Amino acid sequence: MNRRGFLKTASAAAIVPVIPGCGGPAVMPATDVPVSSFGAESTAEEVTEGIDLTGKIAVVTGCNSGIGFETMRVLALRGAYVIGTGRTLEKAEAACALVKGITTPVQMELSDYDSIVKCAELIRSMNSPIDMLICNAGMRGAERELVHGLEKHFVVNHLGHFILVNRLLDRLYFSWQGRVVVVGSWAAYRSAPEEGIQFDDLRATRDYSASQAYAHSKLANVLFSYELARLLKGTRITSNSLHPGVINTNIARNVSPILRAGFGLLTRLSGKTIEEGAATSCYVATSPRLGATSGEYFEDCNAVTVLGDNHMHDREQASRLWLVSEQLTQDYLVELKRPDWSEFENGLRKKRAN
Ligand SMILES: NC(=O)c1ccc[n+]([C@@H]2O[C@H](COP(=O)([O-])OP(=O)(O)OC[C@H]3O[C@@H](n4cnc5c(N)ncnc54)[C@H](OP(=O)(O)O)[C@@H]3O)[C@@H](O)[C@H]2O)c1
Repeated sequence: MNRRGFLKTASAAAIVPVIPGCGGPAVMPATDVPVSSFGAESTAEEVTEGIDLTGKIAVVTGCNSGIGFETMRVLALRGAYVIGTGRTLEKAEAACALVKGITTPVQMELSDYDSIVKCAELIRSMNSPIDMLICNAGMRGAERELVHGLEKHFVVNHLGHFILVNRLLDRLYFSWQGRVVVVGSWAAYRSAPEEGIQFDDLRATRDYSASQAYAHSKLANVLFSYELARLLKGTRITSNSLHPGVINTNIARNVSPILRAGFGLLTRLSGKTIEEGAATSCYVATSPRLGATSGEYFEDCNAVTVLGDNHMHDREQASRLWLVSEQLTQDYLVELKRPDWSEFENGLRKKRAN
């Protein structure tokens, strides 16, 4: 075992009881998905090396911090035009200003549905296809909070992106091969409630725990992506979710000082750097080998299947979550019409005969 492997095992053993989401079921490579040579130590720059994204358009939510910033930076470095969202325009502007390449900052607060609609309308007004829609923004809170009468993690991490994707999806149809990439977490199968999505308690009135509420919302991310992939079957758009790794970003800003210290120690000893943390997002968003891969869940730049009892590929819960999410956000959704693919050639709408 090399030094990193040893530290990984030792530190995980020491901190597992403190940090939710550590330890847990084994994963194995998913079948029928191209295997990449990249892994836990690959960086976003490495996985995109040689990929020319000139002319491609990406939307990255939560572009001002951590994994989102690095994702935006590397996609722009490879030539993509990146629209980066921040909770305030100032934050998005400051992040975009630090990036070499073409970027546009946009304001979007995921707990404010009107702001999501405004953001989507602004992006739509650019009248361009979207090649990559990276749902990266996320929060991990502390005390129980309700937004729109629902538990806050569920609203911010899941329902907010549900609305955004709904309102931008037709722009992905106009790309040669649009990709929705949902940044979930392995907490979805390590710390989410055993029964999966709490359809009868979306206000989290029972035994609230912030880490479980976070994990619950991350399971919603994975199931959302899974169901979206099913609904998009037969189109060129793909949808995949992922765990970025354990990375010392601002995500732990709201946890208790003890947990935060444990998180800091864990990430120092065995976690990923931010450059490594953005690798799986960038790989799934750009790899030419994944053009037909949809409905998968990735860790360390490879699609995996999680062994044991979990809800990662629970078709019934995924469909139910979709319906419930539609009901909960119906005033903010647009009707989705699937284009007629016979009208398209090489991703472009054919000229009409007359
Ligand atoms: N770091 C990890 O170990 C880890 C592990 C598994 C999964 N993840 C996932 O990775 C993603 C990125 O997280 P990160 O680690 O890079 O954390 P981060 O540094 O805290 O970045 C999170 C981003 O999301 C934004 N955000 C938070 N609440 C928002 C809201 N209500 N509306 C709009 N944007 C909001 C943040 O904006 P502000 O800066 O303005 O708050 C920030 O831009 C998240 O989805 C997280 O769940 C992270």
